[in-house]
Amino acid sequence: MNMTHYMQLLADNQPWNLLIFMGIPIVLAETLAITELYILFTRKFDGFVYHLNRFAGTTVGLYFIGIIAYLMTTAVLPITKAGEWRTVIDVVAVSTYLIGGLPLIWIALQEFGFVNKSLDQMGKLKIHAICVALFLVFGHIAMVSGMLDPSLLGYKGADTHQMHGEQMQQMHMMHAGNSATQDNRIAVDFPAPMKEHILTNMRDHLQTISLIQEVMGKGQYDKAARLAEDRLGMNALKLHGAYENSKFMPKGMQEAGTAMHRNASKFAIEAQNTAATGDIKPALIALGNTTQACVACHAGYKVK
Ligand code: HEC
Repeated sequence: MNMTHYMQLLADNQPWNLLIFMGIPIVLAETLAITELYILFTRKFDGFVYHLNRFAGTTVGLYFIGIIAYLMTTAVLPITKAGEWRTVIDVVAVSTYLIGGLPLIWIALQEFGFVNKSLDQMGKLKIHAICVALFLVFGHIAMVSGMLDPSLLGYKGADTHQMHGEQMQQMHMMHAGNSATQDNRIAVDFPAPMKEHILTNMRDHLQTISLIQEVMGKGQYDKAARLAEDRLGMNALKLHGAYENSKFMPKGMQEAGTAMHRNASKFAIEAQNTAATGDIKPALIALGNTTQACVACHAGYKVK
């Protein structure tokens, strides 16, 4: 499913991002809101609840200064520069999340005596309560729009294998630092001899792609077609013992394998057409689709 950057931020790097960007600020803000109600009701400007209210208000305000500074530099600016916002849903989600922090910062500033110095206790209480209310409104707009699927407004998910280096880097920044090297591939358990066999096939796949490029460059399109069909395409299935191997593969991996064989066979047909028409473009596109199937499987799976 496609998600907003808000949702992606919370879902990545489990459970740390969720704790840092949602858990901690929510606990502080709810403590602030609940104690605020108590104070509004009792007008008790001393005692435990009042001090807890002040503590929660100053802490969450300071906390949000950090969050806003961090997300502005690592997410908002790079995403804006790369033109990567996932429709207005995404913009609303991320901006209301950040805007929601501003009234909390205002509360902290008031608690520290930097603002509203001339107001009396009631005046300060009023500003305090308004700020809590504003935070609740913005925070909940962020939550709802953050959980919306941006494809509702036409966002088309970025295909990982079509991503440019720059975009990849910027996505990794969203992952809060340490997950740039995170390996999310599913490890598939094959019996040892089969594992050897699969990796040998793989090296043969790469060699075949390389040979195909070479003979295409020499204008030997029929030869390229034969290489593709025999060593990568539907004909190659038996050669590579694909049926035996596929019993151990999860469904998605089997599909990636089938997609590769199909695309290689399509390439074989296009390469034969090239031999007749001299137009090389459709063949190159078909070859690109074939290697994209390699990339797609590699992105999702590894051997145990
Ligand atoms: C159905 C899934 C799948 C497809 C399709 C696929 N591969 Fe692989 N490939 C793998 C897996 C799994 C590994 C092992 C990766 C690991 O464990 O880190 C691998 C490893 C490799 C290796 C390293 C081999 C070694 O000795 O370590 C090469 C090279 C390779 N693949 C090339 C290709 C090429 C080229 C294609 C497309 C023409 C391709 N693969 C298509 C699943 C696939």
